Amino acid sequence: MQPQATGEKVLVLDFGAQYAQLIVRKVREQRVYAEMRPFSTPVEELAREQPRGIILSGGPASVYEPGAPTVDPALFSLGVPILGICYGHQLMARLLGGTVEPGQEREYGHAEIFIDCHDLLFQGLGERISAWMSHGDRVAQVPRGFTPLAHTRHTPVAAMADPARHLYAVQFHPEVHHTPDGPTILRNFLFDACRCSGTWQPGNFIEDSLVQLRERIGDGRVLCALSGGVDSAVTALLLQRAVGSQVRAVFVDHGLMRKNEPEQVIATFRRLLGDAFVAVDARREFLERLRGVTDPEQKRRIIGETFIAVFEREAARLGEFQFIAHGTLYPDVVESGAGSGGATARIKTHHNVGGLPENMKLENIEPLRLLFKDEVREIGRQLGLPAEIVDRQPFPGPGLAVRIVGEVTEDRLAILREADAIVHEELLAAGLMPYVSQSLAVLLPVQSVGVMGDGRSYAYPVVVRAVVTDDFMTADWARLPHEVLARISTRIVNEVGGVNRVLYDITSKPPATIEWE
Ligand code: XMP
Repeated sequence: MQPQATGEKVLVLDFGAQYAQLIVRKVREQRVYAEMRPFSTPVEELAREQPRGIILSGGPASVYEPGAPTVDPALFSLGVPILGICYGHQLMARLLGGTVEPGQEREYGHAEIFIDCHDLLFQGLGERISAWMSHGDRVAQVPRGFTPLAHTRHTPVAAMADPARHLYAVQFHPEVHHTPDGPTILRNFLFDACRCSGTWQPGNFIEDSLVQLRERIGDGRVLCALSGGVDSAVTALLLQRAVGSQVRAVFVDHGLMRKNEPEQVIATFRRLLGDAFVAVDARREFLERLRGVTDPEQKRRIIGETFIAVFEREAARLGEFQFIAHGTLYPDVVESGAGSGGATARIKTHHNVGGLPENMKLENIEPLRLLFKDEVREIGRQLGLPAEIVDRQPFPGPGLAVRIVGEVTEDRLAILREADAIVHEELLAAGLMPYVSQSLAVLLPVQSVGVMGDGRSYAYPVVVRAVVTDDFMTADWARLPHEVLARISTRIVNEVGGVNRVLYDITSKPPATIEWE
């Protein structure tokens, strides 16, 4: 899939850096379409793609170690502008005849970069910039034809260039937030060295993808699961636009969603998808299978299995299908190792409850597999998805079941739904939603003594959790104003029967997780 209107593309070769994906993202933010490729992609294959530029990512290895990831030096003679970053900088130096050696000191964190030459890469910047460093090795001598462009106290060659061959390299990371001038450096590379036009937009993706979906699907039928989240919603809408009545989007109401959520999902998708939308009320079935279960993993397993059983039953009822669509995004593709096929470490083995059956013998369609979340949101807006769905916080497949510690019952779900709604309303009223990445309430199975009116109460505590995070793999608890916490607490205890205490979770992730189960 080539979601670019101008045909211009930059390729990022992945040498195993956690930041490789971020490079792709930062390039796309400059309106230049980028994709990641494994470092081992043959040079001829890269050349065939006619990229406007190539970026070599960082990586954890040392270029002089046996077996270290490398590229065919012919890459540097393609005439395509290349930017090496960190490991990419060292690799470029070594392969072209410079020297790389272990540094006396590992440089990690903020570093002051002294710019010695302001040509191209550093145009528009001052004498010094602050940049993020993370390296043990350093380039001691630049290859013939190169000029050093910058240094730090510990690194003699913090950047280098051979403009005649369009080769540029930096030891630091221009792609990370901690390098404030990073976007300028990337822009200099993309627009001056690569001569990109910067006209790509996620929206161009819609038209391209409709054409490709029609071609692929022909007159086949497509099944997809709708969770109410933005990824599956955009997937379903794209398919419906592409092949209309050949799609069925199935929403399974497992009874574990938040207050008013199933109603909202049903109303929205009936409107947007018409007859392609199918809702299944499986609330009773889920609750029955969860009766008496308290172990978190067992809960997740039961919900996953029940989901698949309900989904398969519904699919069989809806007739024959040839395709099944998934809302897989680029980070999932890269994390599973399939996207880059490269060296990026697999960090997250996501507990993907709510996953789709694999044995249905249907061909997979993943229309969003090259996109990042914010790009999917933009497309969702263009496709007419309402803000509640486009900006919806992540919500786990097993829903409120992983926020009820102990047995999931109808009564306990009702308590949690009310408490959760209050948290949501108060954060919204205080204008805090844009600052909080995820917010939730958790119901605990212990009881404690309280006093309400003239009487003694013996009831459950609700835990309020709000976190701030970029990637949900690490998170910090949100420093909510005390007044907001006070309002949430007062309202929950007054308005939700069965609760007499409210706690605020002040644990970061790690060591805790965001959800309680
Ligand atoms: P944890 O609790 O592991 O959660 O810190 C990280 C993020 O993942 C969400 N989450 C899930 N999402 N299926 C999902 O699709 C799941 O089973 C699941 N469990 C947790 C969680 O809400 C948070 O955003």
